[in-house]
Amino acid sequence: MNVTHLECAACGLCHEAQGLLNLCRECGKPLLVRYDLAPAERTLRRDSLQGRRPDLWRYREVLPVRNDENIVSLGEGWTPLLPLRRLGRQLGMKELYVKDESQNPTQNFKARGMAVAVSMAKELGAKKLAVPSAGNAGGALAAYAALAGLECFIYMPKDTPQANIVECEQTGAHVTLLDGLITDCGAEIGKRKDAEGWFDVSTLKEPYRVEGKKTLGYELAEQLNWKLPDVIIYPTGGGTGLIGMWKAFDEMEQMGWIGAQRPRMVTVQSEGCAPIVRAFEAGKRFADEFPDAATVASGLRVPRAIGDFLILDALRTSGGTAVAVSDRELISATAEIGAAEGLFCAPEGAACLPALRKLLESGQVERDEQVVLFNTGAGVKYVEVFGD
Ligand SMILES: Cc1ncc(COP(=O)(O)O)c(C=O)c1O
Ligand SMILES: [Zn+2]
Repeated sequence: MNVTHLECAACGLCHEAQGLLNLCRECGKPLLVRYDLAPAERTLRRDSLQGRRPDLWRYREVLPVRNDENIVSLGEGWTPLLPLRRLGRQLGMKELYVKDESQNPTQNFKARGMAVAVSMAKELGAKKLAVPSAGNAGGALAAYAALAGLECFIYMPKDTPQANIVECEQTGAHVTLLDGLITDCGAEIGKRKDAEGWFDVSTLKEPYRVEGKKTLGYELAEQLNWKLPDVIIYPTGGGTGLIGMWKAFDEMEQMGWIGAQRPRMVTVQSEGCAPIVRAFEAGKRFADEFPDAATVASGLRVPRAIGDFLILDALRTSGGTAVAVSDRELISATAEIGAAEGLFCAPEGAACLPALRKLLESGQVERDEQVVLFNTGAGVKYVEVFGD
């Protein structure tokens, strides 16, 4: 176990990596896990990865669980990096890829974060877990909590895709639907958690989901033979995947696996909920709450994200950007990707395609660059969105 401590991502305060922690006790911002990478590096080597288990636990030395017995796994991670040949040709690009996260348990990338968070919660003795969710995180928590034998409480907006609600119920979760947004769901959990004895596993209010998501970055590097792409386009809600990948790149550099070069990180949001795009354009380090948030891409309906400054820092440091696309664009992109490449993407993932088009048109991405899109989930959970 190579964890040394948890460090506040804003004020830098060290917290002992013991017990169930949420936010920084001084400033209330997210905590990030820090490792002693020297011992990790001794056994975790680029050339020793071949033959390791085909899931995210292949990077065991840089994951926080102490005791292997506490690992709660459904085979999450190690998803394919697929070439988008036909779309690439149409766009005049040679190296366009998609990291297909729909091939995870619970059909999306939330499985990564929840596998690690639930394993840690089990290790640290939590009995009841609670989460506000746009849909997919709830489904993933329900599955891993069931496997771990923990009780879980999920608060979702009442207009969350039906498949998400049904999957939570069918995997034994207690589901509450609220007339509001994910931020209202989070506030309700905040109010009730002490009296109920719940451990809050909200994204980035809990330090270990981001550790699961960071494996996206390790996998990408491994699958591209230790050379990162020029550009990463990522549909951003709470931003945990983007923040996690950014952290993974730093860890890999410290272990000498990659150099200082970073991909340009691009956030995609829907025009109906684009707080990060607004803050990026306004040159702000923190994002204002986005009023009247509305988009069919429910995972992007996050009007305020606690990790906003971490997302914005990564976009700026990497020379990346933030792009908004309309719901019309992202829905028609779902059918376009489906017909061209045989992938039925989540609308959040499909949003990467119109974003890429805009970046090609404005010259912010060159046609000969290597670009990776993130399909974060499966379209099949959103059947009502594609109904008309
Ligand atoms: C399919 C899908 N894509 C993207 C997101 C946004 O993810 P993140 O919180 O990592 O920005 C979500 C979050 O709910 C999602 O379900
Ligand atoms: Zn702090």
